[in-house]
Amino acid sequence: MRAGIIGIGSYLPDRVITNTELEKTVDTTNEWIMARTGISTRRTAESHISSSDLGFEAAKIAIENANLEPKDIDMIISVSSSPDYTFPATACIIQDKLKATNAAAFDIQAACTGFVYGLTTAVQYIMSGQFKNILVVGSEVLSKMIDWQDRNTCVLFGDGAGAVVVSQVETGGVISTILGADGSGAKLLEVPAGGSREPASFETVKNRRHYIKMNGNEVFKFAVRVLEDCTRKVVKKANLNLSDIDFIIPHQANIRIIDAALKRLNFPKDRVMINLDKYGNMSSASIPVALHEALHTGRIKKGHKVVLVGFGAGLTWGAVLMDWNL
Ligand code: ACO
Repeated sequence: MRAGIIGIGSYLPDRVITNTELEKTVDTTNEWIMARTGISTRRTAESHISSSDLGFEAAKIAIENANLEPKDIDMIISVSSSPDYTFPATACIIQDKLKATNAAAFDIQAACTGFVYGLTTAVQYIMSGQFKNILVVGSEVLSKMIDWQDRNTCVLFGDGAGAVVVSQVETGGVISTILGADGSGAKLLEVPAGGSREPASFETVKNRRHYIKMNGNEVFKFAVRVLEDCTRKVVKKANLNLSDIDFIIPHQANIRIIDAALKRLNFPKDRVMINLDKYGNMSSASIPVALHEALHTGRIKKGHKVVLVGFGAGLTWGAVLMDWNL
């Protein structure tokens, strides 16, 4: 028995922010952003929109694509890095919007690796026979967590959502998974205030402590290392070789991270999904949105061996190898 993705959806807000627009607000240039990140545009949600709103839209499409009704979903896992609230879980808000009244609902926090953690968790519940149809939603409104005065971070991130329905499949499905974490790197990428460590106060707001802070250079080195390691490990765990892999969908943070990892893997770039130029880094939404686009454009076909590989704050990392079943 295997678990696999039987439905997928994605949703992106309409508003596009170009590099040229950012030139007007911070000390940066289109040339710098393109050369150092590969990002050309990103999307932002309107001010009244939260992660659950975008996640709901992607989830509706995924459930329809799976030929199911919301009442058929028996578990919802939200993996947002920009949840609606500290609590309740964003998954509960999405459950209510969907009227998925038969679903248990909870959140997982693994930052940009969230989708890989969520998918891996869903697979375990399917394999154990406890649940039949699990919705995994990666949705982000990072535009509200970015310091728009900090050129080191504001050029990198975007808003969007992707969702999948995971169920038992007859053929194909998830072959192997790996997850990892190293909390000693927690300070390299964080939102320092707003939790119980530094609760919201006049000082935390004045010092802009509720925004994303990142040591870009260290995260860059970590990302290249784990993209290579994770890909190798998940392939080895499946008793396959890299040459058996048809397509890789990496987390979309920076083209230079992907290029450096592919060079180490000696894997051809034309078999790798890249859409960060259009959307920037959408944290937990990047991989499902890229997967949806790869399917939509025919780059992934039934029978393809596909690796999804992510990394992010925590630090966290993980990969899923699938025999594509749709
Ligand atoms: N425009 C112009 N100059 C800039 C900008 C900008 N937007 N941002 C930084 N710079 C400057 C820096 O201030 C620095 O100037 P200095 O030398 O005078 O101090 C110079 O450019 C070089 O800075 P570096 O940090 O060395 O630039 P680098 O080439 O490493 O690129 C970047 C920075 C893009 C952030 C890169 O390090 C990176 O992509 N890191 C990984 C980010 C990432 O993957 N984050 C997401 C992880 S997933 C998650 O969980 C959210």
